[in-house]
Amino acid sequence: MNREALEKAYPDYRKYITKIFDFEQSHIFKWWDEITPSGKRHLLEQISSIDFTLLQKLFREHLDPASGTLQKNIQPPHIIGIPENNEGKKLAETAKRIGEDSLRKGEIAVLTVAGGQGTRLGIDGPKGMLPLSPINKKSIFQLHAEKICALQKKYNTPVPWHIMTSETNDDDTKEFFRSNTFFGLDPQRVCFFTQRMIPTVDLNGKLLMDTKSSIAMSPNGHGGTILALQEKNIINDMKKQGIKHIFYHQVDNVLIKMADPVFIGYHLRDKADMSSKVVKKRNPEEKVGVIVSLDGHLHVVEYTELSKEDRYAKNNDDSLKYDAGNIAIHIFSIAFLEKLFQMETYLPYHIAIKKVPFIDKKGNLITPEENNAIKFETFIFDILKHVQKSVVMEVVRKEEFSPVKNADGDDSPATAQQDMINMFGRWLQKAGIAIPMDSHNNVAGHIEINPCFAYDEEELMKKVDKGLKFNGFLNL
Ligand code: UD1
Repeated sequence: MNREALEKAYPDYRKYITKIFDFEQSHIFKWWDEITPSGKRHLLEQISSIDFTLLQKLFREHLDPASGTLQKNIQPPHIIGIPENNEGKKLAETAKRIGEDSLRKGEIAVLTVAGGQGTRLGIDGPKGMLPLSPINKKSIFQLHAEKICALQKKYNTPVPWHIMTSETNDDDTKEFFRSNTFFGLDPQRVCFFTQRMIPTVDLNGKLLMDTKSSIAMSPNGHGGTILALQEKNIINDMKKQGIKHIFYHQVDNVLIKMADPVFIGYHLRDKADMSSKVVKKRNPEEKVGVIVSLDGHLHVVEYTELSKEDRYAKNNDDSLKYDAGNIAIHIFSIAFLEKLFQMETYLPYHIAIKKVPFIDKKGNLITPEENNAIKFETFIFDILKHVQKSVVMEVVRKEEFSPVKNADGDDSPATAQQDMINMFGRWLQKAGIAIPMDSHNNVAGHIEINPCFAYDEEELMKKVDKGLKFNGFLNL
């Protein structure tokens, strides 16, 4: 398609059309004469949303990775460990009281990031819709919703829930909530917002098309949360409701201890800007990032970015030196986020080489077998660089972290279900009920406990019938 003709025909989009040619991306107009008027409009709208200067800079950085590497001076961070003695337990109890007080005052909102594409899981649709609970096959979204419902009842307070989606799954997510009557939550207190999208380029930096009238775009990473909170004025809305801190987590963790008061308490006690939970890494190759201390501030080194030497580095007692596995559970203070907005800080982009479907020169849709594309993503934890005060708290993995990432094997729906059953089994055992285990040390049978019946072990102890006999199936 001819540049002058296009610029003349669409004066409103002139400057964007010019950019396409200046940045040598004019192949996207290859099918211009074939596509419908609404297809043309869509493509022009997409072009007007793209920051080509940024895209070119990111691609150049990818070609010259030396500019992006770091991690020379990393050290293990200071961590609040799992309480082992009376002193530790007392501190945790005090923190819990502080956290509960804040919850009662309605100062905490929950934010779930659910804008990802779930490509590793290979599902069609939002991950949160996956039916997962051991007996009732409740979706992940429902499991989260019920925990929020239980919190609201327990602390007699509203806990607003903000869910970040992306263009790829926003409609489906909202429809799922509507058709399930928001799982009993007040729809006024469930707020959806979308993150921005960024184009995907091929290995030569050329824009990929997924149809003749559409550039292949993907969500800009969960770091996009920060920009979205700012652009969509969500922080101001939260402030109006009296919210002072945001409890942040990823949609895929079915064991999430929603708005954990102990964690909130430590965050408040230390007047932290941002706090993080960690678990001990299972082994050097586990695909979790690690929290480290780098040049005096905290930093997450992603699993793809930690050198082999550091992955395997050991302490004298043979434990891993860098074992503070990031489970992507954080608290942000609103005051800190506001400061961050004023600084106009931009999170850096990370690069992922992936297989992305595209249309070839003949216009045929190709599903590649080899990596063919570069995706750009920002990561929420890169904010740590700007944080003055921070708490890192270690928690017990089997009580708090079981993500659904893969279709099978580790971190799959099957392991998530088993981890839920085993956790409920341990709660019941603590309450004095005999729970038989199988040869893999898993509960022999199925258990599901609704958080509205018992949110945690403590509540279960109070409510469960101590004479209960487990016959391999328990749905409370
Ligand atoms: C992530 C963390 C890793 C951590 C692990 C714990 C990154 C880059 N790495 O790995 O340090 O140890 O979780 O489970 O985050 N999402 C969006 N928008 C996006 C991209 C992702 O909302 O643009 C959401 C997803 O819906 C999901 C979460 O972020 O809830 C995690 O994304 P994913 O890409 O699966 O990260 P992991 O590689 O699992």
